[in-house]
Amino acid sequence: MNKVDLFAKVLYEVIERRVSLDVAFKRACKRRCARTLEEREKLYQECRKLVSDYVKLKCVVSKRSPSYRDLARAWISGKTSNSSEPHCQLSVSKWLYERITSLLGSSGAETMLKAFEERTWWLRLNTLKAPEERVLKELEAEGLEFEVHSEIPYMVRVLKSPKPIRLLNPVREFRALPQDLASAVSVEFIDVRPGDVVVDMCAAPGLKTSLIVMLEESARVIAFDISSKRLRVMRQLLKKLGVPENSVQLALADSRFINLVRPVDKVLLDAPCSNSGSIDKDPSIKATLTQGKVEFHSNRQLELLLKSLELSDCVVYTTCSILPDEGEDVIEKIVKKTSVKLVVPPRFRSFCSPGYPSYGFSNNVCRLYPHIHKSEGFFISRLERPQAL
Ligand SMILES: C[S@@+](CC[C@H](N)C(=O)[O-])C[C@H]1O[C@@H](n2cnc3c(N)ncnc32)[C@H](O)[C@@H]1O
Repeated sequence: MNKVDLFAKVLYEVIERRVSLDVAFKRACKRRCARTLEEREKLYQECRKLVSDYVKLKCVVSKRSPSYRDLARAWISGKTSNSSEPHCQLSVSKWLYERITSLLGSSGAETMLKAFEERTWWLRLNTLKAPEERVLKELEAEGLEFEVHSEIPYMVRVLKSPKPIRLLNPVREFRALPQDLASAVSVEFIDVRPGDVVVDMCAAPGLKTSLIVMLEESARVIAFDISSKRLRVMRQLLKKLGVPENSVQLALADSRFINLVRPVDKVLLDAPCSNSGSIDKDPSIKATLTQGKVEFHSNRQLELLLKSLELSDCVVYTTCSILPDEGEDVIEKIVKKTSVKLVVPPRFRSFCSPGYPSYGFSNNVCRLYPHIHKSEGFFISRLERPQAL
C-alpha cells in the first residue's frame, strides 16, 4: 500500500466514519501495510501528525472540496497553512478554538493546544504484580528515562524511551501499564479505605477499577458498564494485572437505571465524555468534536451523577474534558438541587488548578491541564453529602 492510499484511508475513516485515530489506523494499515513493527510504528506516528494537521490542511488546500487523496498528497509535499486565522495555525475546528479561547484567553488556548501536540506517557507501577523498586530497576535496565511523581510514587512520567512503550518488558508483562496521571489523581480522590465497597459506574476497560484494588486490596468494587464488549476486555485486563477475582464484581448495565439493596461507601463516576482532554492521544478530536456531541454527553453525565448520589453519600465525578459543559456546569446543576459539599483532598490542594472562574465552587474542584500538569485535560470533583445528625 502506498502512503497516499494509507493516509487518505486514515483521513476518510476519521472524518467520515468518526472513528478514533487508533481505530482508523488499524482499519487502514492491515497486514501488508508494514513489514516490521518498527515500520508500522513509524507509519502510525506519521498518521498521528497527519490527523493532527487536518484542519490546517483544509485551510491550505485551495480546491473547494478536496478529496482525501488530495489532502494526503498536500501533506506529503509539506503544504501546511500559512493562514493568519489562529484556528488554522493551531489546526483545530473554529468553534472549538473559540470555545477554548473564551475559557483560557488566546495565549492560554495556544499554550494548551501546543502542549497537546506532544503525547505525554505516564506509567503506573503495578504493585499487584511486583514491588515498585523492582519495576523501576527493570525500566532503568531497559534504558527508559523517567521521572517519579513527587506526590504519587507509583506514577512515572516517561521522558525518553528507547522503544515504543508497549514493547517494554514490564509493560508487556503487566508490571507497569500506561495510565495517565489524571486517571491516578481521580482514584486518589476516592480515598479508598480498608473494607470499602465502591461502585464504579462506568468502569470498562478497568484502569481505575484495578487501581482502586491496588491501593486497597481489602476494598470491593462493583463495576458497571453498558458495553458487553468492553466488559469482556476488562475481565481479561483485570486478570492480567493480577487483580484478585473476588475483589471485583462486573455487571452489564446502563448505570442510569441501576438500583442497589443498600448504599455503598463510595462511588466513582468516570463518565463518558467528549474526550476533549485527550487530544494528545487522539488528535482527530480537534477536527471532529461538535457542540452537539458535547451537549449529549453533558445531559448524560447529569443523569448518571444524579443516580450516583442515590447510591452513596460520597461520589467522585470525573471527565476527560477541558470544557465546563462536562465539568462545572454539571456540578452547578447538582449544587442547585442538593446539599452536597465539594471537597479537594488536602494533599491535592496546591497541585490541582481550580475550576473555571465564575462558579462559586471553583476552588473546591480540580482541573488538570497538559501544559501545567503534563497530564490529560481532566475535571475531577468529590461530592460529599453531609451525614444526617
Ligand atoms: C471514560 S470510559 C471509562 C474508563 C474507565 N473508568 C477506566 O478507567 O478504564 C467511559 C465508559 O462508560 C461506559 N458507559 C457509557 N454510557 C454508560 C452508561 N449509561 N452506563 C454505564 N456505562 C456507560 C462506556 O462503555 C465506557 O466504557
